[in-house]
Amino acid sequence: MRDAKARGEKLAMVSLYDAPSAALACEASVDLILVGDSLGNTILGYESPVRVTMDDMLHHTKAVDRGVQDASRSKVPIIADLPFGSYTNIRSATRNGANLVRAGAHALKLEGAGPSSVRAVRALTEMGVPVVGHLGFTPQSSLLLKGVVQGKTGAAATRLLEGAQRLEEAGCCSVVLEVVPSEVARRVTAELSASTIGIGAGPHCDGQVLVWHDVVGLTTGKLFRFVKRYAEADTLLKEATEGFVGEVHSEAFPEAKHAWTMDEAELKKWMGGKHHEAAEGEEKRQGADGS
Ligand code: KIV
Repeated sequence: MRDAKARGEKLAMVSLYDAPSAALACEASVDLILVGDSLGNTILGYESPVRVTMDDMLHHTKAVDRGVQDASRSKVPIIADLPFGSYTNIRSATRNGANLVRAGAHALKLEGAGPSSVRAVRALTEMGVPVVGHLGFTPQSSLLLKGVVQGKTGAAATRLLEGAQRLEEAGCCSVVLEVVPSEVARRVTAELSASTIGIGAGPHCDGQVLVWHDVVGLTTGKLFRFVKRYAEADTLLKEATEGFVGEVHSEAFPEAKHAWTMDEAELKKWMGGKHHEAAEGEEKRQGADGS
C-alpha cells in the first residue's frame, strides 16, 4: 500500500463477505478486499456493526479467503476488521488478530486513535501483522459521534490529523478516512507516508473503498451520498427469481435437459408392467406441451 502511494497509483478496495463475491471482485481486478464489519448491516440483518462477533468475522474471512484462492492468479490481499470490543487491550487484540490471520487475513483494520487503539496497532505490528486504521466516521463508536461528517471544524480536523499521525507512528500501513471533508483528507494524505483509503472523503485519498453490495446495486433503502451504484443487481436478481418462480408454477421448468433418465432395460425390470403406463403417461404429457 505504501509502494502504491509512492508510485501515485490509486487503490480500489471493496468490502465484501463471501466466496463468490470475492472471486468476482478478484476477476474484476480489485486491489484489496476488506472483510468489513459492515457485514452486520449488509448481510446479517443486524441494525448495527457492534453486534458483529469474532465468530462472524472468522466465518466470513474464511469464506472470502476461499473465494480469493479460487479466483486469483496473483493473490489479492484480504484485510479483516477487528470487531467491536475485540481490541480493548493488547491481549485481546493479539489473540483475536492472530485468529483472523489464521482465518486468511493478510492485514487487520481497527477503528480510532485513542490509547487502546494505538496500543493494539503497536502490538499487532510487532507481531508482524500489517494494520490499517480507520478514522472520521467510525461506526463502532457512532453513538459517541455528533453527526455523520467528521472533522468539519479546524479543531476537529486537527484532532483527526493528529490521530492519523499517531496511528502511522504506531505502525499503521494505511488509514481509512470515512466521511470527512475533502480538504481534511487531502491534508492527511499529504502528511502521511502511510496510504489513505477514502469512503466519502473526496478524491485526494490514495485509494477508495466502497461496500461491494452498494457498488453492484444489491443494497436497498436510502444510500449514503458517497455511494455510487455501478449496476442494478437487485433488479436483475429479482427478475431472475421471478423467472424461476413463474416457470415452476407453469411447469416450464425443469425441461428434459435438466433431468436424468434411467437405462431403458433397468427401468423395465424395475417397473415391471407399470413401465408402459408410466412411459405412455410421460409421452402424453410431452405431446401436450408440444415438446
Ligand atoms: O466495515 C466496512 O465495510 C468498512 C468500510 C466501509 C470502510 O469499514
